[in-house]
Amino acid sequence: MRVPMIAGNWKMNTSIGEAEQLVNEIRRGLGGVIGVDKVVCPPFVSLATVKELIKGSSIRLGAQNLYFEEKGAYTGEISPLMLADLCEFVIIGHSERRQYFNETNEIVNKKLQAALKVGLKPILCIGEKLEENEAGRTKEVVTEQLQSSLAGIDCSGDFIIAYEPIWAIGTGKAAIGKEVNKTASLIRRTITQLYSDAIAQEIRILYGGSITADNIAEFMEQFEIDGALVGGASLKPDQFVSIIKQTQEIFYPTNPPTKDLV
Ligand code: PGA
Repeated sequence: MRVPMIAGNWKMNTSIGEAEQLVNEIRRGLGGVIGVDKVVCPPFVSLATVKELIKGSSIRLGAQNLYFEEKGAYTGEISPLMLADLCEFVIIGHSERRQYFNETNEIVNKKLQAALKVGLKPILCIGEKLEENEAGRTKEVVTEQLQSSLAGIDCSGDFIIAYEPIWAIGTGKAAIGKEVNKTASLIRRTITQLYSDAIAQEIRILYGGSITADNIAEFMEQFEIDGALVGGASLKPDQFVSIIKQTQEIFYPTNPPTKDLV
């Protein structure tokens, strides 16, 4: 069974002090919630502080981006080696990076290679634009993103794919659970074709885009969706905790685990 994952992408929000307060509240709210992987992805400057504050809890840490070179004259960039000491996961290819920082599938591919080389677990983001969705091109776009960003990549470890239709991110207009389930199923079939069925069955596919405590259930009830990448609602501790608790209830309706599944 795939362990569900709820990851909070804080984006460019929170000072170090605010990050401290947010993670403390999340930690308090999550006491005893097990069987769901809980990840927070604060801004780079807060990673070290948050790392200290989650010690002894089951909350796990991720970064929002990295650069693909290991070191050198790349002013302002963060190397995979710097992150490897700090966190476990890294979001790669988020649509905001693709949109505002010109990240192509080729760059995403290099970043994936760099992350895996140092043992970071990637959360690869893919998803179509509104016009592509309206033109019925979702399948084509998602397949192309997977094929080119995964070229030469070994997905056999703990590899996570976040399907985030761009028109649903930060817009308050979430996709429809059943539709996302179909796309998640297409992603899994594509992984089977590119790798193997065993790998496709292992990979966790998250949904992202305007997730809140009010709509999480619609997505977590879908067979192919293994969790969520949450933006805005991950900055509100009550919402984030409720999203995780609802996920736990949906995944373990009768028999909640008694210790965390890793
Ligand atoms: P949102 O962001 O939940 O604010 O829509 C999701 C994301 O960008 O990962």
